Amino acid sequence: MKHLIVYSSVTGNTKKVAEAIAQVFDEAVDIFPVETAPPTDDYDLIAVGFWVDRGTADQKAQAYLRTIHGKKVALFATLGAYPDSEHAAKSMANAAALLPDDNKLLGSFICQGKVTSRLTEKFKDLPPGHPHAMTPDREARHREAAKHPDANDLQKAQDTFASILKKISLGQ
Ligand SMILES: Cc1cc2nc3c(=O)[nH]c(=O)nc-3n(C[C@H](O)[C@H](O)[C@H](O)COP(=O)(O)O)c2cc1C
Repeated sequence: MKHLIVYSSVTGNTKKVAEAIAQVFDEAVDIFPVETAPPTDDYDLIAVGFWVDRGTADQKAQAYLRTIHGKKVALFATLGAYPDSEHAAKSMANAAALLPDDNKLLGSFICQGKVTSRLTEKFKDLPPGHPHAMTPDREARHREAAKHPDANDLQKAQDTFASILKKISLGQ
């Protein structure tokens, strides 16, 4: 049976991860941007990729997640924050919570993705003390994010999805 990868990406980070993941599925996968996602009926696993927007999946991915029923699902995402942060874990959990209960979530992957300079500039314009004002920590995070997703992230994403596929082949 075929698998489906649907991703939502504005500046290309999540798309890059989606394309890396597609490689571990060989030919048994169709890959679509969320805007042209096909019906899920013919697919076994649905892998949904999103960019983190204010602590959850971006709006297009949110709408798509809510439409999935009775499927094996895996999630992947990119964000500006560090992937091992509480914010990353919460953002993934918030997205997972949007999936209807009749699905089975098999795994997830999250990594940093460069933050568009428009957003970085916006933070710089905020007054000191504002919760999103630019701080040395935030600046360092954005500088690090600018290097991602890198080859190591893409490898980790592939490893995560290879083990998800193994679970499926073992009937788990
Ligand atoms: C409007 C907006 C909101 C964002 N909100 C968050 C956020 O809450 N947390 C975070 O870590 N990154 C946030 N980001 C950063 C993006 O999630 C990150 O740059 C992502 O890799 C973009 O993915 P894309 O290139 O696939 O569009 C935000 C970016 C934008 C433009």
